[in-house]
Amino acid sequence: MQRDSVVLSPPPVVFIKSISEQGYTLSTAMSDLVDNSIAAGATRVEILMETNKPALIMYVADNGNGMSPRDLTLNMRFPSADMEDVRSSRDMGRFGLGLKTASFSQSRKFTVISRTAGSYYEGRCWDVEYLKKTGDWTLVIEPADIVEKHITDFSAASMNFHSADPGFSPNTLIVWEELYKLRKFTKNTELNAELEELRNHLGLVFHRFIQNGELEIRLNNLLIEPFDPFPVNNPGIQTIAEAFWKTGDNYIKFQGIILPKISEKESAENGSAWAMPNRTLEELQGIYVYRNRRLINYGGWLRTVSKASNLQFGRIRIDISNLNDGDFQLNVAKSSIKIPFSLKRAMADMISSVTTQAVKEYRDRIASAVIRQNALSKGVTLISKQIGAEGPMLKIDPDFEILRQLKVQLSPVNAGKLDILMHLIERKLNQIWQGETGSMEFEQTIDEAEKQRIIKIRKYYEEAGYSWEEIRQLLIESFGRQQETISFIESLKK
Ligand SMILES: Nc1ncnc2c1ncn2[C@@H]1O[C@H](COP(=O)(O)OP(=O)(O)OP(=O)(O)O)[C@@H](O)[C@H]1O
Ligand SMILES: [Mg+2]
Repeated sequence: MQRDSVVLSPPPVVFIKSISEQGYTLSTAMSDLVDNSIAAGATRVEILMETNKPALIMYVADNGNGMSPRDLTLNMRFPSADMEDVRSSRDMGRFGLGLKTASFSQSRKFTVISRTAGSYYEGRCWDVEYLKKTGDWTLVIEPADIVEKHITDFSAASMNFHSADPGFSPNTLIVWEELYKLRKFTKNTELNAELEELRNHLGLVFHRFIQNGELEIRLNNLLIEPFDPFPVNNPGIQTIAEAFWKTGDNYIKFQGIILPKISEKESAENGSAWAMPNRTLEELQGIYVYRNRRLINYGGWLRTVSKASNLQFGRIRIDISNLNDGDFQLNVAKSSIKIPFSLKRAMADMISSVTTQAVKEYRDRIASAVIRQNALSKGVTLISKQIGAEGPMLKIDPDFEILRQLKVQLSPVNAGKLDILMHLIERKLNQIWQGETGSMEFEQTIDEAEKQRIIKIRKYYEEAGYSWEEIRQLLIESFGRQQETISFIESLKK
């Protein structure tokens, strides 16, 4: 039977606005462009943005193979390829969308200029304002003078930063204009912070390419340094034997590491091997998924265990290739992935070894920090952690230099008051701390010294005219977590 049908093409502007909200940030959008550069064989990517210019423009240039005029046009289409197409192992693409969605996630007008060996540049531009006028999917084919202007503007922008390389002539240049998201940052410092975040992100996501010497990425002419979350050659690292998971004809490799406890202290230092300038050990814990050596996901345990301070030394690396895409649910922004259930099960032993070891290392670090503090800082550190019979406690050092000097100068009665005051502060500190960590209990019985303190506090407050109710409340709040203590306090009522 003949069926009726109508052609329903999506209205371009509305479609573009919605499809570009794929959860991209500036960093993930830029990573999508760098993916394309790597796939095109580029060894060099130059990203430029002058934050002090009123009209913000961002340039991304590479020395990859470029595109012929025909390919350039076809690659601007939404989408430009079929997801089912077989791709080479260097190809980071999957959806045929990244160039367009990433660009539109940040800009309302972008131009791609490209050339192949020995040919002239051509330029294609998607411009939302133009689409509004035509109401159709009309791609602008830029005239030669506009193309030329973009190239010279890019070179001029580069010259405005230190270490420009006037000899660099890109094969592909992408120009983002109408940067509607970045435009909201009105202060230069905010924009620069975004660029710093971008620098850190790219240094992490592409670290394996940069470390291998296959790729140089420069942001405003400054080389991006790689950050390797798995510095396995570092002597302090413990590695857990590699494991494999078979899927079809492929193996997925996973490996666990435990950072040494010293990494906690060293992570705050500049150029630390353990953490990045704007990401702490806590944020960097967990499972890292690399697809074709490019980092997709990190900073958590992919719903296998929850992130926690005491797991901050544990990391697991999973290596997949684009052949495994069917098993993992990669998103268009290439910033998240879902681990199939059967792999989670296969990884259970690895996760359990890494987390157990990480917690052990975390506990050890408290003990060693206390020993170090006790040895080094008598009289220097006011509050330190100490391990007692009831677990770790915060202690105020009575020999803290200022306290010591004060006590010498005070009358015996006032020195006694100072001691009691410090004791109350110490108790309060531990109550607050214990509330947060839930890790320790106060002693069960009340000793003679504590009784004497309670009696003295009662006396000081009574002399100052406080009522029994007020005194009782203070004493119970400070000391009275155990029944025996409460009974002792109650017994003091006249
Ligand atoms: N810098 C570049 N140099 C050469 N070719 C490029 C460049 N950027 C994009 N291309 C071409 O344009 C095509 C479309 O890129 P796009 O990012 O939109 O999709 P994709 O990379 O195929 O898939 P994905 O959506 O997963 O990124 C690429 O497949 C590639 O052939
Ligand atoms: Mg792509």
